[in-house]
Amino acid sequence: MLTTTFSMAQLYPAVATAVRAPSLHNSQPWRFRLADGAIELRLDPDRMLDACDPTMWAARISCGAALFNLRLALAVAGTPARVQLRPEPTDPALMARLVPLAPRAATPTESRLHAAIPRRYSNRLPFRPDPVPAAARHRLIEAARAEGGWLELVIGSTAVGAVAEIAMSANRVLDRDPAYQAEIARWTRHGPASDGVPAAAGGPVAEPHDLLPQRPFGDWHRAPGRDFETEPLVAVLGAAGNTVGDQLTAGQALQRVLLTVTDAGLAASMLSQPIEVPQAREQLRLALGRFGSPQMVIRIGYGQPGQPTPRRDPADVIDTVLEET
Ligand SMILES: Cc1cc2nc3c(=O)[nH]c(=O)nc-3n(C[C@H](O)[C@H](O)[C@H](O)COP(=O)(O)O)c2cc1C
Repeated sequence: MLTTTFSMAQLYPAVATAVRAPSLHNSQPWRFRLADGAIELRLDPDRMLDACDPTMWAARISCGAALFNLRLALAVAGTPARVQLRPEPTDPALMARLVPLAPRAATPTESRLHAAIPRRYSNRLPFRPDPVPAAARHRLIEAARAEGGWLELVIGSTAVGAVAEIAMSANRVLDRDPAYQAEIARWTRHGPASDGVPAAAGGPVAEPHDLLPQRPFGDWHRAPGRDFETEPLVAVLGAAGNTVGDQLTAGQALQRVLLTVTDAGLAASMLSQPIEVPQAREQLRLALGRFGSPQMVIRIGYGQPGQPTPRRDPADVIDTVLEET
């Protein structure tokens, strides 16, 4: 039977999967609802990070990542969706509308990526020094491309050092802003909570000799000699440009890359300081020597087990729309 509308019974499990997406400081800036049988994904105005994300770039990346999970959940349930990004330009909070397509079985890739969703989390611990094999690198590049994004692997210690220096300098710029610091402190929870980043999911406290900047989420010091890997695989994910649509595309590409990382038995953490500071982002773009707009820096490797971060209950992010009778 052709499904022409989505129902609440389809929405709830799909949202439970969507909310596993990453978001800046685990702010979870999304809301979902059924409207005229379509699923709408909207920005949550109560979840905007005014100091850390004044342009709402991160909120849109996060919504893009949630959208990718939503698409996978619907496809694996046999009811894939057609996605319209920003369908109503006069309604800027409406990020995407999903309408049902003809039922079909999920593809093997959809099933594998969907299975990776509950196993993916940001891993901020030091990785093992083993290099990421060429086949896995190729899969990651393809994953970004399949969603209309690009992934540039930063190869060689000189190039990695240059990206690291841009990231460190962006981190210093951000750290000088008291409003930014206060907002991070507000979203860093030191106990179990469904909002923000718990200390257990943070990495070790940053040390002066670290190559890459760490957010101040963790509250524990690593033992002497337990340093970060000296040659991390650093990748920059980007989109063709930096419009709202590009950011939503980049979010979907990011999530596809991260789920491919998980499926390949790898771990990843994200660094967005060099994206948040406009001058650093431009330096990053010039350092990569390519067209398009960098949207995220990702560190990839073989990880020791880390800690997943909790989410809000799906029921808390679903709105009910009263249909006219
Ligand atoms: C736009 C964006 C920017 C992020 N920036 C950072 C970052 O700079 N440092 C970091 O450790 N994690 C960063 N993260 C990861 C989030 O903190 C993480 O996704 C969130 O806490 C949920 O945890 P999970 O990824 O383990 O599910 C970012 C995520 C997104 C979507």
